[in-house]
Amino acid sequence: MPAHKPVKKAVFPVAGLGTRFLPATKAIPKEMLAVVDRPLIQYAVDEAREAGIEQMIFVTGRGKTAIVEHFDVAYELETTLAARGKDMNALEATRATPGDIITVRQQVPMGLGHAIWCARAIVGDEPFAIFLPDELMIANRNGGTGCMKQMVEAYGEVGGNLISVLEVPEEEVSSYGVIAPGRAVSPHLTEVTGLVEKPKREDAPSNKIISGRYILQPEVMRVLEGQEKGAGGEIQLTDAMARMIGTQPFHAVTFEGRRFDCGSKLGFVEATLALALEREDMGAEVRAMAQRLLE
Ligand code: G1P
Repeated sequence: MPAHKPVKKAVFPVAGLGTRFLPATKAIPKEMLAVVDRPLIQYAVDEAREAGIEQMIFVTGRGKTAIVEHFDVAYELETTLAARGKDMNALEATRATPGDIITVRQQVPMGLGHAIWCARAIVGDEPFAIFLPDELMIANRNGGTGCMKQMVEAYGEVGGNLISVLEVPEEEVSSYGVIAPGRAVSPHLTEVTGLVEKPKREDAPSNKIISGRYILQPEVMRVLEGQEKGAGGEIQLTDAMARMIGTQPFHAVTFEGRRFDCGSKLGFVEATLALALEREDMGAEVRAMAQRLLE
């Protein structure tokens, strides 16, 4: 079994404009929208930490400062809460280890591939993870693990490049990156033989879509360097990954857990309802409330 370089860095592309949530996202980043009481970015960072990732690289843009501040120590708040004898757990859970949060800027939104490439100097010569925070991946209750932790485990077996995938109805494939699955290594791990970004339904190689989590080798940065525009006139990460197939191992992991597409309003509402319903501190009341509203 070869030893694979551990995954210690993660890139969070968070420079997007969040136009689908206007006017909510006019003055706050979409990654700061809260599902119940945690902003989307914090779910992603917590998932990264659970997987053993130490360095968080945010690819930000104008108007995105709140994302970085969220992981600061908020002295005023903490002092006030302490003086009032209030519970500090929620605040303390957001704190980053000093030096662990790094930001780089993407000046112009030119696509996901371009955003990732903006982090090349920090990624250096190491494997790295990518999190798209509007894909909310929630571990199963009673001991389930997060998506990235499951991917890191698979990485320990096969190395190379991995993406998380899930099946969607055929009419939805054209909104996503789609894989051509190859040999199954185990029930949740499959080789990837091809990748297409936002194919027409009739051209899609399967109904397995890329669901926003990646472990990639640093060579992808060199491929991205010369990557031409693809779907939507953007520099697509999927196109660069497709060119790496055959040069390095490439696998897809099916997450055992739940996924909510918080890039869409419906998905966001679904996530809010699902997570509120299972919260110990409010689940029963939310259930009763939902029943009343449905009557
Ligand atoms: C991006 C990726 C796509 C992936 C999707 C997951 O698309 O390019 O391959 O399936 O995220 O949400 P976007 O949502 O940025 O259009």
